[in-house]
Amino acid sequence: MIRFKNVSVTYRGGVQALRNLNLTIDKGEFVVIVGLSGAGKSTMLRSVNGLVPASSGSITVEGTEVVNASAAEIRNLRSGIGMIFQTFNLVNRTSVINNVLMGRLGRVPAWRSTLGLWSADDRERAMQALERVGIVEKAWVRASNLSGGQQQRVGIARALVQEPSVMLADEPVASLDPVTSRQVMSDLRRINRELGITTLINLHYLDLAQEFGGRLVGLRNGELVFDGDVREVDDQTFMEIYGRAITDQDLVGEADSSI
Ligand SMILES: Nc1ncnc2c1ncn2[C@@H]1O[C@H](COP(=O)(O)OP(=O)(O)O)[C@@H](O)[C@H]1O
Ligand SMILES: [Mg+2]
Repeated sequence: MIRFKNVSVTYRGGVQALRNLNLTIDKGEFVVIVGLSGAGKSTMLRSVNGLVPASSGSITVEGTEVVNASAAEIRNLRSGIGMIFQTFNLVNRTSVINNVLMGRLGRVPAWRSTLGLWSADDRERAMQALERVGIVEKAWVRASNLSGGQQQRVGIARALVQEPSVMLADEPVASLDPVTSRQVMSDLRRINRELGITTLINLHYLDLAQEFGGRLVGLRNGELVFDGDVREVDDQTFMEIYGRAITDQDLVGEADSSI
C-alpha cells in the first residue's frame, strides 16, 4: 500500500530529517509514529503526499511513485489522501458544512466549486461524514463556534468526503485535553476499522498510542528505531526511541489528571 525504500530527506540548509527509511505499510493498517520533537515524524508523513520532497529513495502509494512525480500525478495522489492537522486548519468564518465540502474540491470540476454549486450528492456525502463523527447537528454552525474537539471532528469529516484510501494525521490531538484527545483517537480508530482507510498518525503520547492498538513506528534522529505491535512496547523500547526514560511529559495521563 505505502512503501518507503531507502528514503532520505535533507532540507535546504543541510538538516537530514529522514535517514534511509525502509518501511512497508499494508492496506488498512493503523500506524502510530512516535519520537521526540525533531525526530522526523512530520517529514515522514508529509513525504507520503509529496508535501516534502524526498531527496533520495522511493515512496510508492498503491503503486504510484511519489518521488519526482509530475504536478498532475501529485494532484491526483493528494485527492485520495486525507490530511488532519494539529491546528485543525478550518476556515473559521464559514459554516461547518462548507468546511467539510472543501474536502470535495479535488473530486469535482473547479468551476462548480468556485460558484458554490455543490451537488445534492456532495451535500449528502458531507452530511454523512458529519454523522460518522457524531456532529451532524452542527452542520450550519460557524466553525469558530465549536470546541477544539468538535473542530477536529470537522477536520476528520473534511478528510472523509475525499473518499481517501489513506489518512495522514500530524499530531491531531496535540491541541486537545486528555478526554477530547481520547475521543478523537477513538474516532480515527473506528473509522479505520469501519472504512478500512490506511491511517498514519503522529503522536506525542505513548500511553495514548497503546490504548488504541495497532502498529507503532519509532523514529529517532530521522532513523527508524522501532517497528512492531504497540502492545509490545516496554521501558526498554521507550529508551531506544526517546534516548531516555519515560517521564510524565510523555503521557497524556488519566482523564481526570488535568483537573
Ligand atoms: N522546512 C524545513 N526546513 C529545514 N529544516 C526543517 C524543516 N522542517 C523540519 N526541519 C528539521 O527537520 C528535522 C525533523 O523535523 P520534523 O519532521 O518536523 O520532526 P517532528 O515532526 O518529529 O518534530 C528537525 O531537525 C527540524 O528542525
Ligand atoms: Mg512534527
